[in-house]
Amino acid sequence: MTHRIGYLVGSLSQDSINRVLAKALIRVAPDSLELTEIPIRDLPLYNRDDEMDPVPAVTEFKAAVEGSDGLLFVSPEYNRSIPAPLKNAIDWGSRPWGQNSFARKPTGIIGASVGAIGTAVMQSSMRSVLSFLDAPQLNAPEAYITFKPEVYGDDGEVADEGTEKFLRHYMDEYAAFVERVLSVTLPGHM
Ligand code: FNR
Repeated sequence: MTHRIGYLVGSLSQDSINRVLAKALIRVAPDSLELTEIPIRDLPLYNRDDEMDPVPAVTEFKAAVEGSDGLLFVSPEYNRSIPAPLKNAIDWGSRPWGQNSFARKPTGIIGASVGAIGTAVMQSSMRSVLSFLDAPQLNAPEAYITFKPEVYGDDGEVADEGTEKFLRHYMDEYAAFVERVLSVTLPGHM
């Protein structure tokens, strides 16, 4: 069975290395996953005053999250934390109270950095946020990617065999995790 996975790129940059990583992940993902980006670029800054009458970008964002079988966060680390555009998107999706779009969605967190720790601190912050939002997370493998430009092509090609194998393993494990979570939360979905 095919599962629809929404992926969120935590960077708004045209040259985002995390967008490059996302392309590589799509390329190595098993056929059981259909990956579609959920854009966060057009969301306004979160304001509680607008929760009950949000602009269409917010409504569309929440619908895209809710319509996904699982979510994959592909994000940089900014100042040892979650980039503001991604946190902003999560805040919108979590509200209004009682309408948390992330609840029970199987999630994966992965990220690329130019630094050696490969977004580990961002991922740790994300785990707290997603726990609070009742979103089950793939615990292992963890994937902290130090981005090497020579390894990644523009269309998701991965020039290094070891890296390609690791990313493929990550996506296989993520797919198996999604399957496990859905079999509990949506019994009979198969
Ligand atoms: C960074 N960068 C960075 N890297 C890191 O490993 N840990 C960090 O805390 C930060 N902090 C940080 C803050 C800000 C505001 C910027 C712009 C950058 C460097 C970061 O890894 C690098 O810019 C990546 O290219 C960002 O990913 P995208 O935007 O290219 O996907």
